[in-house]
Amino acid sequence: MDRIRIVGGARLAGVIPISGAKNAALPLMIASLLTPETLTLENMPRLADVRLLNRILGNHGVDHAVEGKRPGDGPHVGERVHYSARRIVDTTAPYELVSKMRASFWVLAPLLARMGQARVSLPGGCAIGTRPVDFLITALESLGARIDIESGYVVASAREGLRGGLIDFPKVTVGGTHTALMGAAMARGDTTIRNAACEPEVVDLAHCLMAMGAKISGAGTPTIEVQGVTSLHGARHSVLPDRIETGTYAMAAAMAGGDVLLQGARADLLRSALDALERAGAQVSSEAEGVRVRRDGCPIRPVDVRTDPFPGFPTDLQAQFMALMTRAEGVSRITETIFENRFMHVQELARLGARIRLEGDTAIVEGRPQLKGAPVMATDLRASVSLVIAALAAEGETMVHRVYHLDRGFERLEEKLRACGAQVERVSEGG
Ligand code: UD1
Repeated sequence: MDRIRIVGGARLAGVIPISGAKNAALPLMIASLLTPETLTLENMPRLADVRLLNRILGNHGVDHAVEGKRPGDGPHVGERVHYSARRIVDTTAPYELVSKMRASFWVLAPLLARMGQARVSLPGGCAIGTRPVDFLITALESLGARIDIESGYVVASAREGLRGGLIDFPKVTVGGTHTALMGAAMARGDTTIRNAACEPEVVDLAHCLMAMGAKISGAGTPTIEVQGVTSLHGARHSVLPDRIETGTYAMAAAMAGGDVLLQGARADLLRSALDALERAGAQVSSEAEGVRVRRDGCPIRPVDVRTDPFPGFPTDLQAQFMALMTRAEGVSRITETIFENRFMHVQELARLGARIRLEGDTAIVEGRPQLKGAPVMATDLRASVSLVIAALAAEGETMVHRVYHLDRGFERLEEKLRACGAQVERVSEGG
């Protein structure tokens, strides 16, 4: 199993290209199940989760082909991938595959919409809380699906196809909104989705579905209206830049100090996180090429944050911001409202010398002038990258174990950081 070795203390200066968003790419790939024609996705990130979903979709009969580079494409340009679900050959998503990646459960809606039936394994437990799928199931029931749970599988049918309806989510859910959009796009009649997630990735999916012929209005607001159409066609769509990757490197730059241009990043996708960074003492500016983050000399100030659905502070940046706060000049409070049990990074950060106390859903972080390198263990995707950020400013060497978590969601992390002067290297098994 690979590890990542980091020697802290280097300032970061240079350019980091931001990849296409993982959390947009996954539902977009799944949307290819809705049409027999080709869906071409551009700016696709090269990630373990994308490769795994390619396998899962392949099991349903989706072919994918990665297009070769074109003249003028830089070394870091995202991939262009053609997805074609000409014939769905299997409407079952087995436990062995779904249990490896929760988002693959989202195949339920398009399979049901196109084939009138689907059998998808429940995703099972997850490291960051119980993460049920009840809202997704209720959403599809509101569209006329009949759903039973049999031996750990969600068995869904809609013999006459799905029909429009009212979906009113009791809590904002990203996966629930993706499911509602994909189910309603080809339902008979109109659907209203209330308390919809406003996350940019939801808007990206809606735009792609619209390019495929869906009639959707209000994406990006809490009420989305969908007018069902009988079929969807092929389209070409470019994946939006990854706001979580952007925020992660922005925090890395603020932590290590320096001057980094996050190329291709869009500040409007993560205003609340960038505001928090500015309050913490970093300078953030939007430029034609992306977002620039600087911190020179100015100490890190303590800032309280609370995670919330978009446009609030994203839960997927909570661990990274906590890493930054471990070096602040004072005490900060970080409250997690989206997921219970999303504080697994706390004990690993403590191994680097951080002082963090948990009180219910709040972490109280007492900033320290110095952290010290140590061996640490990655526990989940975002938690593991928070350890990398902390290690960048720790004295001496940190070895992050179980980096496969990082590979799920960060493309060439060590290469991108190294290009800015960080001392980071991947150590392969036995290395
Ligand atoms: C997506 C993101 C994840 C991010 C999360 C919140 C992807 C691949 N993943 O996850 O990175 O952290 O949004 O921004 O895009 N809930 C229920 N019942 C349900 C569904 C959700 O109780 O049926 C709860 C969850 O446990 C959680 C909250 O609702 O407390 C929000 O979860 P949700 O927005 O659905 O997260 P995901 O879509 O799984």
